Amino acid sequence: MQKSFRKKPLALLLKEVNSEHRLNRILGPVALTSLGVGAIIGTGIFVLIGVAAHDKAGPAVTLSFAVAGLACIFAALCYAEFASMVPVAGSAYTYAYATLGELMAWIIGWDLILEYGVASATVAHGWSKYFQDFIGIFGLGVPALFSNAPFDFDPANGMLSVTGAWFDLPAVMITFAVTIVLVKGIKESANFNAGMVILKVAIVLLVIVLGAMYVKPANWIPYAPFGFSGFSIFGHTVLGESGPGGAPVGVLAGAAMIFFAYIGFDSISTHAEEAKNPQRDIPIALIGSLVVCTILYIAVAAVITGMVPYDKINIDAPVSNAFMQVGIGWAQFVISLGAITGITSVLLVMMLSQPRIFLAMARDGLLPKSFFGAIHEKFRTPWKSTILTGFFVAVLGGMLPLRLLAELVNIGTLFAFVVVCTAVLIMRKTHPDADRPFRAPLVPFVPLAGIFTCLILMFSLPVENWIRLFGWLFIGIVIYFFYGRKHSSLNTYKP
Ligand code: ALA
Repeated sequence: MQKSFRKKPLALLLKEVNSEHRLNRILGPVALTSLGVGAIIGTGIFVLIGVAAHDKAGPAVTLSFAVAGLACIFAALCYAEFASMVPVAGSAYTYAYATLGELMAWIIGWDLILEYGVASATVAHGWSKYFQDFIGIFGLGVPALFSNAPFDFDPANGMLSVTGAWFDLPAVMITFAVTIVLVKGIKESANFNAGMVILKVAIVLLVIVLGAMYVKPANWIPYAPFGFSGFSIFGHTVLGESGPGGAPVGVLAGAAMIFFAYIGFDSISTHAEEAKNPQRDIPIALIGSLVVCTILYIAVAAVITGMVPYDKINIDAPVSNAFMQVGIGWAQFVISLGAITGITSVLLVMMLSQPRIFLAMARDGLLPKSFFGAIHEKFRTPWKSTILTGFFVAVLGGMLPLRLLAELVNIGTLFAFVVVCTAVLIMRKTHPDADRPFRAPLVPFVPLAGIFTCLILMFSLPVENWIRLFGWLFIGIVIYFFYGRKHSSLNTYKP
């Protein structure tokens, strides 16, 4: 049992940072911040805002965005402290290894597959929906057999239903296209991302400025028709009301749902090894991208709920539909284009991050090194695990009922944030004098506030997610005891 709690020494981590066989250090602060914005703005703001406003929070969805953004800012400050201390590719996994021990690190690494791998599949599915909408404008369509996953999940009755399709071809195709770019190189990926980020931010700004002209303040009243709370503990609503199926509703429940919109900022920390000056630039990029997106999100939420009464907000394409409802039909073209590019860059950055977590785990011996640790001779990318990630995302994105998985992504990510905030507290105690180029302010308040807000959001999610999270983690623990524990590099490490 002792083995499972051994920690990776900080000295070893720092030695590894300076060793050979590392990734290319070519990303500056602008590229890193745009990777952050690339990972953040996507399905959440273009799609999920609709359900959150319509069913969970009403016009007070603006407040839901503020609450979720606040939880992320606390977590981002903790990520920034760690990323500046140990700028290696593993992110939360590595931080947990140094502070909480090997088993917890493995659990977090396994949990991050939910955040990056499963989220990518969810996002690929969303991409397909917007793509089909977009080509529909030109009278084109994907044959029904290839337009959807073969079955769907209805959260209201918990049943699976058959859709009649074989698989979702656009989701599979975009995943393969993104995989090719990722294998080619980090620079190509970053450039490709930067172009898409400029376009999607421009379109989000257009939504805000143009939409503001059509806002009717009367639509903001009542402001919080579902109340300001929405908090349940394992299925029992403790604060606020319950909606259909017993799930909590209100500002907090809305925040737990649209938390998805913020997922991705932490992926910047997985690129620490490719940053030119990680100690300075990673904290700037983490906090900068999050602050920019929080402001944009709150503005978009205020505009959309001001344009259309909350109970008339469309659930599938809320942003473009709001413009249709006020009579600006041409906006559908521009906004769909923004959504497609936006979601493509989310997919790109998420699928860029997953292999880098695998890489860190493989270097520590917790995953097979020859596969997950392989770096391409010419492209200097973790190519084998990038292709595996692409395959996994294509299969999930093309075949599975992803409604089932979206909330699982949220709970998995919130769990990782809780661990990172905890790890900062522990590291301050165990290594008070370690070099910290960036220090989270107001410790212990900031990490404690991060833990508290993330736990509240976890409890505001419908209860099934806890069961799925535990199920997923249980599978991970079994794998650790059969593989990782026996092959860990720490078995042979001598200080
Ligand atoms: N934050 C990302 C999105 O909303 C995952 O698509």
